[in-house]
Amino acid sequence: MGLNERGHILKQAIKWVLDAGDMIRTKMDEPIQIDTKSNPNDLVTSVDKETESFLVKKIQAHYPEHALLGEEGHGAHITSLDGTIWIIDPIDGTMNFVHQKRHFAISVGVFHDGVGEIGIVYDVMADILYYASRGEGAFKNNHQLEPLNDQVQLEKSIIGLNHLWLCENKLVDEKVMQKLVKIVRGVRSSGSAALDMAYVAEGALDAYLAMGLSPWDIAGGTVLVNEVGGRTTNHLGEPLHMLKRNSLLTSRDSIHSDLIQQFLEKGQK
Ligand code: IPD
Ligand code: CA
Ligand code: CA
Repeated sequence: MGLNERGHILKQAIKWVLDAGDMIRTKMDEPIQIDTKSNPNDLVTSVDKETESFLVKKIQAHYPEHALLGEEGHGAHITSLDGTIWIIDPIDGTMNFVHQKRHFAISVGVFHDGVGEIGIVYDVMADILYYASRGEGAFKNNHQLEPLNDQVQLEKSIIGLNHLWLCENKLVDEKVMQKLVKIVRGVRSSGSAALDMAYVAEGALDAYLAMGLSPWDIAGGTVLVNEVGGRTTNHLGEPLHMLKRNSLLTSRDSIHSDLIQQFLEKGQK
């Protein structure tokens, strides 16, 4: 994808995401319909669905030749990353949206032939917009983010985790996780993978480690982290696949291999 095309798409995508954020904020105090999906804690609301439809309509009207993959059902048939594909999570952090009315994000990633071109993560209630386009840097509310060059060591790092490491953990021995949380300086769990990835890009977290994430959780954040020189792989250091569920290890470069080492040493189940 060329620079001009990327810049044009980025501008439009930011406008649509900000408009979607306006819509969500106006609905915050209205009654919303809450349903469950794969299990009683897997929530989806009418606002998730309406936000996805809003974005999908805009994209289809302007880019009928592009493919779409959204959490709430659009593009479920997609089997290839050839061409341009928009990967959308209309609300990342739906449980936060329902219970806390804050700390959730709209996440959009645009990939071309499997390469991340554009990433947008918008913290709706805080009105903080993170965005990046490949080769052009990453930004937070129009301030360019610094490259993640600091040589932070694991012992001085603060890392985000999702809760799945503590339950139904079929990937890694619990002891590895226990050892890891003792080695690092601090651990956080926010409930929005997209925001945690934005925090890694910003340097507010040194790493984010999550299990069982879908492409829409990570597509936007991957482009953000890549643009500041961070690393984005699964927990064994293998490349992520944008059409499959993945574990995720995203971090500043200085601790990425040390983190992978924790899992390679004896953590495999
Ligand atoms: C969830 C959030 C959460 C992560 C879950 C995701 P959703 O996304 O990103 O942080 O731990 O695995 O499913 O369902 O709120 O869009
Ligand atoms: Ca999500
Ligand atoms: Ca979601």
